[in-house]
Order: sequence, then C-alpha cells, then structure tokens
Amino acid sequence: MSRELIYSGKAKDIYSSEEDENLIVSVYKDQATMLNGARKETIEGKGVLNNQISSLIFEKLNAAGVATHFVRQLSDTEQLNKKVDIIPLEVVLRNVVAGSFAKRFGIEEGLPIEKPIVEFYYKKDELDDPFINDEHVAFLGIATDEEIAYIKAETRRINELLKEWFAQVGLQLIDYKLEFGRDKDGKIILADEFSPDNSRLWDAQGNHMDKDVFRRNLGSLTDVYKVVLEKLKEL
Ligand code: TMP
Repeated sequence: MSRELIYSGKAKDIYSSEEDENLIVSVYKDQATMLNGARKETIEGKGVLNNQISSLIFEKLNAAGVATHFVRQLSDTEQLNKKVDIIPLEVVLRNVVAGSFAKRFGIEEGLPIEKPIVEFYYKKDELDDPFINDEHVAFLGIATDEEIAYIKAETRRINELLKEWFAQVGLQLIDYKLEFGRDKDGKIILADEFSPDNSRLWDAQGNHMDKDVFRRNLGSLTDVYKVVLEKLKEL
C-alpha cells in the first residue's frame, strides 16, 4: 500500500497511512496564510516547529485522558493520526478579549473573560467561515444537540488543562481554535493541531508569542515559535 495524498490544506497535507487504513499521516508545511488565504507566505522552519509543538501538546492531552486523533510523531514534519471525518466547525475558546472578538464588540484587547466563551465558526472557505451559534449548527446538520454539548464541554475541559500548562511556562493562553472529528466508530475526538498558528499566547510582558507576529508584522515568526517550543519542553 503506498502513501496517497488525501487532502492538501493551508498548513498541512494529509496522506493515507501505509500501516493502517484507519490512520493518516499529517505533514506540516512551511506555509503561513491569513484572511482565508488572501495573504500567503512561505516561512522556512514553521512546519517543523508546529509539528513538534502540536505533538507535545497532544501527547499530554492523550495522557490526561482526552480522546484525540494523535498516535505518534513520525519525523520532524510528520505525525501519525487517526482518520476522522472532520466536523466542519472552528471551535474557538476565548479566555481574554483579543482579535475578532475585540473588533466585533468594540472592546480593547486584554480584558479577561471570567467565564471563558466558546464560539462556533462554520468551516466553509467560500463563505469565509461565518460566525454561527448552536442552533445554526443543529439546523445545518453539522452536529446534534447532544454532540454540540459534548464538544463544548470537551473544549472547556481542554481549556483547564492548556491554561495550566501554559501558565507553568510563563505564557497566558488568550484564545485558540480547535477542530473535532468523528472516528470510525462515530466517536467525537479532538483532531487537527494545537500550535501558535491557531492560538494566542502572550508572555509576561504582553508580547505576542503566536501567529499575530505574522498577521501584524511584528518580527520573526519562527524565532517566537522556537521560544514557545523550548518553554513547553520544560513541562
Ligand atoms: P479570531 O480572534 O481571529 O477570531 O481568532 C480566535 C482564535 O482562533 C485565534 O487564536 C486564532 C484562531 N483562529 C484559527 O486558528 N483559524 C481561523 O481561521 C480563525 C479565524 C481563528
């Protein structure tokens, strides 16, 4: 059985696995995009860093009893994952006001959100991933009410773990995006990645240690991601 390209995304390519039809190989790329791909750049070394960061986080989530797609890291840029049907939702959790939330509600970035807020965006490039609520998710047939409740509860449980781990290495977890998928038995598990590409991390001085460095032209993205990786290795 040879490896076949199943899907080419903005940050990763997905291949079938040679060892098991229920597994896939995710290959992390050096591409950085924003505004739904309208700005696109190659940033050498980003794929290796994100694969290492995401592998480290997912290993810890697995160990903490969170059901995820992560099996093991295969190489600098590759990891082995369980095959899932991705649920077309970007599940965003916000601990602190930033980004589109600050803009949408006219609130300054940095205000803590006492009860973290979970938001859904419908993953559909041609619609620019619109902001939707639970009732839209059910109406569109994306997930049942029960599944929505599970996804939200899992996202909050994961938040407690992540917030604590990042706090231990001096980083504040501002917000992040998760994706879930259904495995071969229909069970919902955490999929995709967790990296500074899809989260906001601020250090004690309020420096952006995430993709905002690229979005806002604040310096070298890989220099910052290297610091995040080195910090996480202390855990
Ligand atoms: P936002 O403030 O732009 O809505 O982003 C919230 C968080 O979600 C931030 O950590 C970045 C992440 N995110 C993605 O990973 N992919 C996306 O397409 C969007 C819009 C946000």
